[in-house]
Amino acid sequence: STLAQLKVASAQLLGSKKSANPGTLGFVPTMGALHRGHAALARAAVAENAVVVASVFVNPLQFGDAVDLDRYPRTTEADLMLLEDAGVDIMFAPAVEEMYPSGEPAVRVTAGKLGDLHEGASRPGHFDGALTVVAKLLHAGRPEAGLTEPDKNGRLPYRAYFGEKDAQQLALVKRMVADLNFPVDIVPVPTVRDDDGLALSSRNRFLSAKERESALILSRALRLLRRRADAHEPLDILSAEELVHMTPGVELDYLEVVDPQTLQVRAENCQDTPFTGEALALIAAKVGPVRLIDNIKLG
Ligand code: PAJ
Repeated sequence: STLAQLKVASAQLLGSKKSANPGTLGFVPTMGALHRGHAALARAAVAENAVVVASVFVNPLQFGDAVDLDRYPRTTEADLMLLEDAGVDIMFAPAVEEMYPSGEPAVRVTAGKLGDLHEGASRPGHFDGALTVVAKLLHAGRPEAGLTEPDKNGRLPYRAYFGEKDAQQLALVKRMVADLNFPVDIVPVPTVRDDDGLALSSRNRFLSAKERESALILSRALRLLRRRADAHEPLDILSAEELVHMTPGVELDYLEVVDPQTLQVRAENCQDTPFTGEALALIAAKVGPVRLIDNIKLG
């Protein structure tokens, strides 16, 4: 489907579909290779909107490395089934030329300083690329007319769903929408995990059985910090880092305790003083060939 067709289709459905939430449109941006985490986003959108659009687009702009882009999993048929099963109305899967008709866009959204921290430090330009495509998709998904008037609770009728799994992306999308006046509400959806704690990711399929076992240290280290936070003990991040370092095949990139809104690193309460307040612990590590991220709320 093309961008123009998407606008027409969502406008038509919006006008015709009977629903408990008339005149509301949910948008779920993804890169495909969908799993239960994506399904949770889709179901959250279906539960509170008349019409739901999900996009599947592996966005070249947010990959630093051509090899990583090339081997990103593409499972379109299975994606279509998962979205249909979740009750999504429209799957929008544009070609690269459709999204970027004149090659790489000259003008893009920049993530600013927050885009250079954490994930951004290891993946330069990643968040500029992600925000640029999210901006394009959110514009493309919105019919020309309507969807701008808030309801009595101040909620806008156009909503986009993002996973808490990608905490920095979620924070940046919220900032983009606020800073650039996008007429859309951003709805966060909690991280979906496997039974053993591993956060679901399209990249997990590249882990060998042994690597998958090692990868559990990410969520274990986060849960250790949460237990300490719950007990108002010092977090002792260094000992948590040590656990990760000791795990075979795991190369820690960062483990940081940050402010949940600004994602600035917290100087206090991380090593020796009893934990107070609220924070987010962020972790990123390479497990074999696969870069994984995870996070947990503290306090
Ligand atoms: P992708 O990695 O496919 O993720 C799409 C959405 O699913 C994101 O909002 C992500 O946070 C969410 N998600 C992924 N794994 C999850 C899990 N285990 N639990 C809950 N939500 C999960 O993120 C992107 O694509 C791209 O950067 C995109 C926003 C589509 C822009 O290209």
